Amino acid sequence: MSLLYFVPLQVACVMTIWSQLQPAYAANMWNEALNKRLGTKGLDLSQVLVEVEKRGSSFEQLLTIPEQDDWVYSDGKSTSCIAFILEMYKAAGLFNPIASSVQVTEFTIKDAYILNFFENNSSRLPNWCNDGDTVKLPYCQIKGKYRMELPGYNSMEPYPHMNERCPSLPTKYYRPENC
Ligand SMILES: *[C@@H]1O[C@H](CO)[C@@H](O)[C@H](O)[C@H]1NC(C)=O
Ligand SMILES: *[C@@H]1O[C@H](CO)[C@@H](O)[C@H](O)[C@H]1NC(C)=O
Repeated sequence: MSLLYFVPLQVACVMTIWSQLQPAYAANMWNEALNKRLGTKGLDLSQVLVEVEKRGSSFEQLLTIPEQDDWVYSDGKSTSCIAFILEMYKAAGLFNPIASSVQVTEFTIKDAYILNFFENNSSRLPNWCNDGDTVKLPYCQIKGKYRMELPGYNSMEPYPHMNERCPSLPTKYYRPENC
């Protein structure tokens, strides 16, 4: 799980409360991920906070350490739905030759669809593509009442350590170049 989805300041607070209410679930949700980042095992949240302090680092910095695709958790490998798709792309070689420098567990859905992996010649899209629509999109929308907009679709060449330094702060989630 990419911990960059969390906004650090409020996070420690929410995590602390959650750890009290649902200790087993908290361990599964983030304690293991925090331990992976520290290179420790089995520390609970308060012990993690103490350890971070001891190392002269901060909880905020800990959260920014990128998830590694090859980390295996106590219940097996862990991905979000989009990271699962990208793991397949990675295994299939789409990120070559920089695959070893890309951690797809750090990618969001938008990060995935802006990759330049997709058909760029609309005359090669299947006939049924956008069948029910008056507008021809550069991609196939299979279902849904509303037209999907995918800004930046199919436009970005992957680069080493892509998406490992993106601040992505609300409300605009502005993405600096090469982050
Ligand atoms: C379309 O994709 C092909 C194959 O990936 C690539 O060689 C070509 O340069 C692309 N064309 C444009 C206009 O991006
Ligand atoms: C798009 O694909 C069609 C059909 O394969 C082909 O005839 C056409 O030259 C392609 N256009 C570009 C810009 O590559």
